[in-house]
Amino acid sequence: MQIFKIDEVLNFPYERLKLLFDTPVVIPTETVYGLAGVINNDNILNDIYQIKGRPSDNPLIVHISNLNMLKTLIKETISPEYTTLIKKYWPGPLTLIFKANDNVSSVVKGNHMDTIAVRMPNNIKLLKLIDKLNIPLAAPSANTSGQPSPTEINHVLNDLGNKVKTYIDDGKCPCGLESTIVSIQNNKITILRPGIITKEEIENCLQKEVNLYTKESNINYTIPGMKYTHYSPKIDVYLFIGKNYNNNMIKKAQNFKDKKIGIMGSNDIDICGFKYEEIFYMGETLIECASNCFAGLRHLEKKVDLIFVKGFPYINEGVALMDRLEKASSEIIE
Ligand code: TXA
Ligand code: MG
Repeated sequence: MQIFKIDEVLNFPYERLKLLFDTPVVIPTETVYGLAGVINNDNILNDIYQIKGRPSDNPLIVHISNLNMLKTLIKETISPEYTTLIKKYWPGPLTLIFKANDNVSSVVKGNHMDTIAVRMPNNIKLLKLIDKLNIPLAAPSANTSGQPSPTEINHVLNDLGNKVKTYIDDGKCPCGLESTIVSIQNNKITILRPGIITKEEIENCLQKEVNLYTKESNINYTIPGMKYTHYSPKIDVYLFIGKNYNNNMIKKAQNFKDKKIGIMGSNDIDICGFKYEEIFYMGETLIECASNCFAGLRHLEKKVDLIFVKGFPYINEGVALMDRLEKASSEIIE
């Protein structure tokens, strides 16, 4: 196994770079680390599913560095709404769903979809790397399936270790949550997965109403990843929402007298009246807390037996943050 700094890799001659991408490679993005493969090699793409333990029906997001690459992947012309979103948010943490071109390998599409998820990541060095390779990279988050996504190279090493030959390191991922995924069907704009680019921002940008997909919403879209467990550390997470969180934590802690409890929440979290082992302060703003969310879960998982998290308001970036925390939790306490 080899770990490179991204600057080192950018200095490789083309032939060496190409050789490096003969197997799956861990890449940095502005959201989370990805496990990447060139989209024209099914063996590599299949290896990605295998290494992650990812169900084969869960399609991959394709990462591009310019709009010409997008045109090679899609069937349709780009809709006015997508054009507006692309102008405003690419490169950035926004994934768009298109009808896939017939040339796109079915492995990318989870072996059953006729659509393709595409994004242009906002990491200038990664964009240079994709440019140099001159081929899009399909990349799911570089965690073992079901685990919290990795926002530092050590998280990936912890999950995947020697299963991957090449790691490219570019420090901490600034967003810390995966991209917002948007789909348009029959003129209806839907956020399939909330992210740091919020519903409010997208509505503002398009001057149109946007739906947020939930299991309950009666929308005929599929986001195959939804049906699988997500973002869960190996220990139980209890999510406390509402004003009474401190009292509820005290009550809950009585069930776990001989266990080590870890706490996670924004810097202004108020916790008194019960014994805990370790506390992880996520930050002041919603954006800051979002960027530290997965790192916090991974940090506490190593130190304690169970985690109490103080929830966030369901507004702006809080929607994405709560989406991940709810999925990570074994119980939500109001
Ligand atoms: O920020 C991100 O999006 C990160 C970085 C690495 O780019 N990637 C990421 O990939 O989060 P992954 O595989 O962990 O999540 C992709 C999600 C899955 O839930 C998958 O089901 C969904 O996107 N997806 C992929 N292609 C799709 C499609 N054609 N239609 C609907 N959902 C799709
Ligand atoms: Mg993932």
